Amino acid sequence: MQQDRPSSAPPNSFCVVMPTYNERDNISAMLRQLLAIFDGMPAVDGHILVVDDNSPDGTAEIVQDIAATDSRVFLLSGQKRGLGSAYTRGFEYVLAHLDVDAVVQMDADFSHSPLDTPRLLAALEEADVAIGSRYVLGGAIDERWGWWRRLLSRGGNMFARYIAGIYAIGDITAGFKAIRVSALRRAFPLRIPVQGYVFQVALLHSLMISGAHILELPIRFSDRQAGETKLGRRDIAEFLVHVWWLRLLSRKTFVKFALTGLTGVVVNLGCFQILLNSGVGPYISSAVAIELSIIWNFFLNNYWTFRDRQITARKRVRGLKFNAVSLLTLGVSFSSFVVLRWLMPEQPEVVAQALSILPGAMANYFANSYWTFKADPV
Ligand code: GDD
Ligand code: MN
Repeated sequence: MQQDRPSSAPPNSFCVVMPTYNERDNISAMLRQLLAIFDGMPAVDGHILVVDDNSPDGTAEIVQDIAATDSRVFLLSGQKRGLGSAYTRGFEYVLAHLDVDAVVQMDADFSHSPLDTPRLLAALEEADVAIGSRYVLGGAIDERWGWWRRLLSRGGNMFARYIAGIYAIGDITAGFKAIRVSALRRAFPLRIPVQGYVFQVALLHSLMISGAHILELPIRFSDRQAGETKLGRRDIAEFLVHVWWLRLLSRKTFVKFALTGLTGVVVNLGCFQILLNSGVGPYISSAVAIELSIIWNFFLNNYWTFRDRQITARKRVRGLKFNAVSLLTLGVSFSSFVVLRWLMPEQPEVVAQALSILPGAMANYFANSYWTFKADPV
């Protein structure tokens, strides 16, 4: 992968891309604060592109009024499809129509302080991307956040780091970044289009594999000033699935393992459906189908995926380890099934069963790759 050294000059011009959905109570204060900060950076040409999805609360009208009196503010309106769609639209607009050196992405609700913007932009002197990070030394989350929100945010971030295989960055779901347009151009379009919040991870992944040089700067993430978060169940579902695709894109052994897994999926869902049809309850069917597919996958992995590995440990030991890993996989997959039934009760049972395969497969992959089928040291 080609890696351009980031140029040593700070950006001369930039555009803040700011998605809004029902931000009536935040947007004008936000725009005014940002514009005041731009006034304090006379050497740099700053713009703001608000990407609104026809917010029913009239956010767009407020932006329009400000844009009419200040030529640095633009409005892009569209259909509501999610945070990722809005950012994609905004970034593509910048790449096609604006001649700027950098973009800044941030929330409209003061979660990200406008005061941090100059610091992120200045960091582009040494990097292609500067992340406003909650999870590096000096970074912080609003004290008012309860333990549940902290756990969700931390957990989601850790889950995505390990699954997607992005270990080098502490805050991979961060929504506050300054990005050189040259790096953004190399990262776009994203390999797999996304609609919701997982966009943050997908964009970071794309920037990394296209060779961007990335820095993290500590920020304090505040609770929003008005309104409520727009993160919904759909975002969570898309997030849980998408990080696996990112892993698939970046690792080879994993591709082989995933192909093996695909046949396991057929076994799993086939058995699940047959058991359901013959009157067995969904939870027992789920567990039995998971176990059968685990056995199936073990044989394929043993004779294909990990065939080339030099393993001298006795077969019987491997068999014992395999059983322990099966238990782990069963636990992960089955509890995912239970959680998914709760997250999407209106969907058919087989959908939850299908999705529950993914986390189980991941646990299975790590345990098998680093333990059961661990290669001898050379
Ligand atoms: N146009 C548009 N369309 N804007 C949206 C949409 C949408 O579908 N959904 C959310 N937004 C806007 C919001 O109005 C806000 O300005 C910004 O995107 C972020 O939404 P919030 O609802 O404030 O997100 P959050 O505070 O829960 O999440 C923040 O932290 C996450 C990581 O924990 C954001 O910074 C996320 O980007 C980040 O991933
Ligand atoms: Mn927010």
